[in-house]
Amino acid sequence: MSTNQLIIFDTTLRDGEQSPGASMTRNEKLRIAKALEKMKVDVIEAGFAIASPDDFEAVKAIAEAVTESTVCSLARALDKDIDRAAEALKNARSARIHTFIATSPIHMQYKLQMKPDQVVEQAVRAVKRARQYTDNVEFSCEDAGRSEIDFLCRIIEAAIDAGAGTINIPDTVGYAIPEQFGHTIKTLLERIPNAHKAIFSVHCHNDLGLAVANSLSAVANGARQVECTINGLGERAGNAALEEIVMAVRTRQDLFGLTSAIDTTQIVPASRLVSTITGFPVQPNKAIVGANAFAHESGIHQDGVIKHRETYEIMRAQDVGWHNNSLVLGKHSGRNAFRTRLAELGHTFESETQLNEAFARFKELADKKHEIFDEDLHALVTDSLISSDNEKFKLVCMSVCSETGVTPLSKVTLSVDGAEVAAEAEGSGPVDATYKAIEQVVNSGANLKLYSVNAITSGTDSQGEVTVRLESGGRIVNGLGSDTDIVIASAKAYINGLNLLQNTRGKQHPQSDV
Ligand code: KIV
Ligand code: ZN
Repeated sequence: MSTNQLIIFDTTLRDGEQSPGASMTRNEKLRIAKALEKMKVDVIEAGFAIASPDDFEAVKAIAEAVTESTVCSLARALDKDIDRAAEALKNARSARIHTFIATSPIHMQYKLQMKPDQVVEQAVRAVKRARQYTDNVEFSCEDAGRSEIDFLCRIIEAAIDAGAGTINIPDTVGYAIPEQFGHTIKTLLERIPNAHKAIFSVHCHNDLGLAVANSLSAVANGARQVECTINGLGERAGNAALEEIVMAVRTRQDLFGLTSAIDTTQIVPASRLVSTITGFPVQPNKAIVGANAFAHESGIHQDGVIKHRETYEIMRAQDVGWHNNSLVLGKHSGRNAFRTRLAELGHTFESETQLNEAFARFKELADKKHEIFDEDLHALVTDSLISSDNEKFKLVCMSVCSETGVTPLSKVTLSVDGAEVAAEAEGSGPVDATYKAIEQVVNSGANLKLYSVNAITSGTDSQGEVTVRLESGGRIVNGLGSDTDIVIASAKAYINGLNLLQNTRGKQHPQSDV
């Protein structure tokens, strides 16, 4: 099947969520799914329904809320996985079941402990079972990047005969090199007799930093679906970045001759949303969505851009959703202006209570910081979403003494299941003292794996946004907090991480043994 349309399949909510520390709540997933729908993503992989009851509910909620994009659930090539995916998707306006099995010699021998014939048989059975629920079935050959071409031809032909309309070729471990990967796609399309009955898709991981290059090479050789994630989030080094694929195909239309349905002006808002929710910051020099992606530092470049923009710019910042860092609201802005500006930024409130809480925080912030920028609003909303959830631990108040030549001391009062508990501790710095005081109350024993502070806007009155990564019993979470006082922001981030550790329950990994 050859078309001039490149299908964009977003897996931020499934493969993206497999990034250590990127787990999201159902509401957060819904917000991202709505942003993806607004961006006109063709297929949203909402999750792996059998992984846990939370994952099932998230896929179900997204299937019910999204009407413009196809909603997909991943399923191993097992009856129970496929039935669970179908159950979660049953109310979707347009649903897809994505089933997969590993096809490389190393995976078949060591992980599956199955013979190639058995793998083909199981793949065919899975596709047929999925077809009982929907006409829209995708089949993936896990670790196709290290699979033998003859075996790929054999299993793909059988999967298409069984009813798969999309065939996905994942480079699961990021091993491929662009020219070779493109050649693999071309060979498959030429050699498989029924290849014309399916759309060929690719799904590349970034272990060698080649996920986007490999995907584009596959597209140049006939792939018509790319699986990708916002900001390149994903297992290990991540997946191909949606924004880079979409803008490469659009900017080099002369080479690819393809279009996508994506509304590119939604790219930056979606990138920010994913970064805020997951706590994975976007590096400043990241293509398309990094803060410096359209900033010209050198005088020669600035002069050129002023004379004729295209001297140094191949894309327009506005086309991907950047707009000037304008002063948006201040101390005297009302609730309506607040709600309207947030809606423009893609934030809606589930209830008047949530809006009122966020507005009260906005007023507090405006008292401390007179100029409120879009970035401040994003941080503020994240903070109110974090703190309006049902949390075990809450920060009631704190004070820190930090003086030259004196050991810093922090006094913290937390509410634990509604009861106030106070503690104090010394530390090597104010943050260290505060974390020790919090641990005296909570006694979580969590390991602090990462601590980072970013100024949200410029100026010394900027809010600090703190991200902490905590690990406990093999579970990893990212906690976030923002405040004009970075020690308070640090305490909020740590407490948010502790609450997330309470809430995350063990779940099945899709690529575990079948
Ligand atoms: O990387 C991979 O192989 C996957 C499959 C499950 C599609 O994520
Ligand atoms: Zn993957």
